[in-house]
Amino acid sequence: MILLFGGQSAEHEVSCVTAAHVLAALDPNEFRVTPIGITTEGVWVHAHEALKVQGLAFNLSDPSNLSDRAGRSEIGALKVAGDPIDIGAVLAAAVTYTPPAVVLPMLHGPLGEDGTIQGLLELSGIAYVGSGVLGSALAMDKAMAKQVLGSLSIPQVRYIAAHEADYRSVTPEEFCASVVDQLGLPCFVKPANMGSSVGVSRATDLPALREAIETALTYDQWLVFEEAVTAREIEVAVIGNQDPEASIPGEIRPADEFYSYTDKYLAGTAELLIPAPLSPAEVSEVQELAVTVYRALRCEGLARVDFFFESPGRGFLCSEVNTMPGFTPISMFPKMWQHSGLEYPDLIRRLIDLALERAAGRRRVTVRQPTSRGERSAQESP
Ligand SMILES: Nc1ncnc2c1ncn2[C@@H]1O[C@H](COP(=O)(O)OP(=O)(O)O)[C@@H](O)[C@H]1O
Ligand SMILES: [Mg+2]
Repeated sequence: MILLFGGQSAEHEVSCVTAAHVLAALDPNEFRVTPIGITTEGVWVHAHEALKVQGLAFNLSDPSNLSDRAGRSEIGALKVAGDPIDIGAVLAAAVTYTPPAVVLPMLHGPLGEDGTIQGLLELSGIAYVGSGVLGSALAMDKAMAKQVLGSLSIPQVRYIAAHEADYRSVTPEEFCASVVDQLGLPCFVKPANMGSSVGVSRATDLPALREAIETALTYDQWLVFEEAVTAREIEVAVIGNQDPEASIPGEIRPADEFYSYTDKYLAGTAELLIPAPLSPAEVSEVQELAVTVYRALRCEGLARVDFFFESPGRGFLCSEVNTMPGFTPISMFPKMWQHSGLEYPDLIRRLIDLALERAAGRRRVTVRQPTSRGERSAQESP
């Protein structure tokens, strides 16, 4: 098994914490792991040292006992340090292993969770945990995800998607006035491709809106603007390939004005409620919606589907989908599964099985060179 961590996104550190906990929960007698770190500059290294944490938490029934609320624990974070490797060669060798090797891309954000790494893994023909190229890319791009969900009439907040060029084509004042005209104030400004609340701002007036746009543009050329809703934040963890299952829903009660990066990873002051206080009918409704969203965005393996719950009002509104959600034992995703009866190490095992199942069902159609009669024929290979 190859564990990928680190990466070139703003969520590099979060990935190193996630990966440490995943490795700590893997039984060394069952899994031979090659930890591979990706530096912020994009250098791939064989992180031998990381193996020290393998199995540390394997025998604990609740590995979250090792963590404080901000996810800090004796397991800590893996270090992206070691000898540089040729990842193409490593994957080419791993794909020939029996039993088959599986890649765990525990990477968050752009160049990790957005289909790029998944493309590399597809090319190498290796099995990997999580969504494929399309599902990863669609869920990562908040603008495209909203467009797809909108086409299926899945309820969501009012939004505008715009490219930097749209912003630059008029004066900032004109652009901001048009956003406020359509969405009102306060409104949210987000880079389309990001996560962990990085680059997300809540703008309460026109100067703040302009500043929020400049901030978001440092992360992505595509931006999403949303009406600010007053709503509860409900999350559902989903796993599966063609027959996805939804967990018991959880609720986030942010300590700040919104669920910021600090609140998520540094202060750990948000209140996490699992199960979310909802009626049985509301639970079924949000679980069904989560599965519909998961399918619509072609998710596979796992994803966390987030909602706003406006009550009284429009009820559940899909907010976003994370195809590689936070995965430390105190993160919402594993916690929701734990409450649904699936413990952390079993959840990881399940994800590995789903990766193998998907790889086994993969169709690879290669087009042969034209035959002597000038025909082209297609051949299927496993
Ligand atoms: N339209 C909105 N109305 C109210 N709060 C919002 C809205 N959009 C985002 N938020 C707040 O900001 C947080 C981060 O936004 P989100 O879209 O989830 O970004 P990320 O992908 O970085 O997690 C949310 O958890 C929520 O607290
Ligand atoms: Mg979010």
